[in-house]
Amino acid sequence: MNYVDAYKGKTVLVTGGAGAIGSNLTRALAEAGAQKVIVLDDLSSAERWNVPDLPNVAFVHASVLDEETLKHVFFQGPQIVYHLAALFANQNSIDHPERDLLVNGLGTLKTLQYAHLTRVERVVYASSGCSVYGKSPLPLREDFLSMDLDTPYQITKMLGELYCNFFRNYYGLATVRTRFFNSYGPGEIPGRYRNVIPNFIYWAMNGQPLPITGSGEETRDWTYVGDIVDGLLRAGSMPEAVGEAMNLASGVETRVIDVATWINELTGNEAGVVYTERRKWDTKSRLLASIDKARQLIGYEPKTEFREGLARTVAWFRENWDKIVASARF
Ligand SMILES: NC(=O)c1ccc[n+]([C@@H]2O[C@H](COP(=O)([O-])OP(=O)(O)OC[C@H]3O[C@@H](n4cnc5c(N)ncnc54)[C@H](O)[C@@H]3O)[C@@H](O)[C@H]2O)c1
Repeated sequence: MNYVDAYKGKTVLVTGGAGAIGSNLTRALAEAGAQKVIVLDDLSSAERWNVPDLPNVAFVHASVLDEETLKHVFFQGPQIVYHLAALFANQNSIDHPERDLLVNGLGTLKTLQYAHLTRVERVVYASSGCSVYGKSPLPLREDFLSMDLDTPYQITKMLGELYCNFFRNYYGLATVRTRFFNSYGPGEIPGRYRNVIPNFIYWAMNGQPLPITGSGEETRDWTYVGDIVDGLLRAGSMPEAVGEAMNLASGVETRVIDVATWINELTGNEAGVVYTERRKWDTKSRLLASIDKARQLIGYEPKTEFREGLARTVAWFRENWDKIVASARF
């Protein structure tokens, strides 16, 4: 069976399904013919309007830490669980380390406990390649993990993976650990703790100069959200994925200064860029993932060329500008 057809008639739970990646995943699952996609999100860093308004999507406004809610959603019998709910990301975790541990640590433990208790067929966990590898050599491969991490968020993303392994090894729960690298695309509302691309687009559309924290020569492996979603659909249904950890990235390195220049071009912003100090926790001047493992194991193949992905993201900003302005959290 095709990996997308595997979702036909299924009940799927997406924690964090109102968020940047979760909202895109929810739409893809609903369009793949899932009978019901349950979105569990406390809207702590997302907006209700970002949840796809489709007949087979059910929204539950609550926290993954809430026991009654977990009972309510898990006893609806989801066969597949995507656990994306998290306190996002590095700076947020430095400002709120206890909340980070609660949501990313205990929230993941509780999700896995209920998944085990209700005999869920598979749990796909959203881990972070920018977190767990520390300063391992590039391109980052799945087997080099680091104990030398820079933020509480990086620690708790690793912790989530360790819990997944425990539930896999001890209870036989089918877990998959997917590691994303700097996702971007429609669905990410700008804000103080958000990724650089939505914030650059927001500032550029407001005619402001784009602040580069560093020299601009730093690189990241930016991945279009649609490609991550395709990898997640594969990870949630293909037997080869079970028990594995996999990078879902673009496999391409791009400089921050190029991203800023392209966004200024796409939006017609003439204010240019300004250079500011690098953040203390931001110790990685380059990031590049190896995607060989996901390619070989589940046929993952990112398809979206970077400038095309940026153009689609800018188009989403234009279509939703009033809502984005009202929702941006700076
Ligand atoms: N975006 C990236 O570049 C990236 C990279 C690596 C890993 N990840 C991981 O992927 C996942 C999704 O990332 P995203 O960019 O969509 O982030 P996001 O912040 O947009 O999504 C997370 C969602 O979880 C929700 N949430 C937070 N606390 C919650 C709680 N206690 N109960 C229920 N919901 C809660 C938020 O409201 C939000 O909608 C996260 O787990 C993140 O750590 C993201």
